[in-house]
Amino acid sequence: MDGKRKQRLEALGIETWVRRDAPAAVVAVPAVAAPVAPAAALVAPLPPSRPPPPAVVAPQPVLQPVVAPAVVAAPFEVPADWDALRSLVSGCQRCKLCQTRTQTVFGVGPITAPLMVVGEGPGADEDAQGEPFVGRAGKLLDEMLRAIGRSRADNTYIANVVKCRPPGNRDPEADEVEGCRPYLDMQIQLLQPRLIVALGRIAAQRLLGSDEPLSRLRGPLHRYGKFQTPVFVTYHPAYLLRSPKEKAKSWDDLKKVWQHLRATE
Ligand code: URA
Repeated sequence: MDGKRKQRLEALGIETWVRRDAPAAVVAVPAVAAPVAPAAALVAPLPPSRPPPPAVVAPQPVLQPVVAPAVVAAPFEVPADWDALRSLVSGCQRCKLCQTRTQTVFGVGPITAPLMVVGEGPGADEDAQGEPFVGRAGKLLDEMLRAIGRSRADNTYIANVVKCRPPGNRDPEADEVEGCRPYLDMQIQLLQPRLIVALGRIAAQRLLGSDEPLSRLRGPLHRYGKFQTPVFVTYHPAYLLRSPKEKAKSWDDLKKVWQHLRATE
């Protein structure tokens, strides 16, 4: 059992153990984190092949894995149709975020938009309203877009890397990002924007398949996916709210966005 899974199980108050006679590897793991089972299903009888528990410790009900830590998603077909895709996402249970969300947050904007903005994941306001970027960061994003003649009402489609709110506004975990990958990819395929703007490190790293810091990803024009869609990276508006002095650099990025869209009209 890897350290992360052990920690997760222990955080749930579930004692963990390792078979002494177990081979060094390999347990087949579902490629995408299975939806978390209800609490009762976490309790499984010990299979007969397990060694007896130590005499001093009362037998513990263990050991169905709560979350598979896999990060490589199995092929998962999604419909190439906006309505069917939205409906599939609304009932999604591909990762544990489905347990804590109020609702999924699919995306907003005209499906003919030449500009696509990709954020990280819904926060509390978005989870409550079902629309991306409606909180304070969203207001700033709207101002940034307005500064370059863009808006979610007219010519910009806004979506997130993950469609469900990570609890406590933590970063989405790798299995959650991978679980949502086919949805964002299909949104990009259906929209075929002339430009994608990735807001913040999580969106940039997801789109560019990179673990470089944001400071290294900002600047150059990147390309994404089978359409080789141009991608610029800039600061997340939530970060700009915390670090307003970076707004000048963000303005440099927005000017490049404006120029690129004008040049490709
Ligand atoms: N932050 C994001 O990345 N996305 C939202 O939808 C809201 C806040």
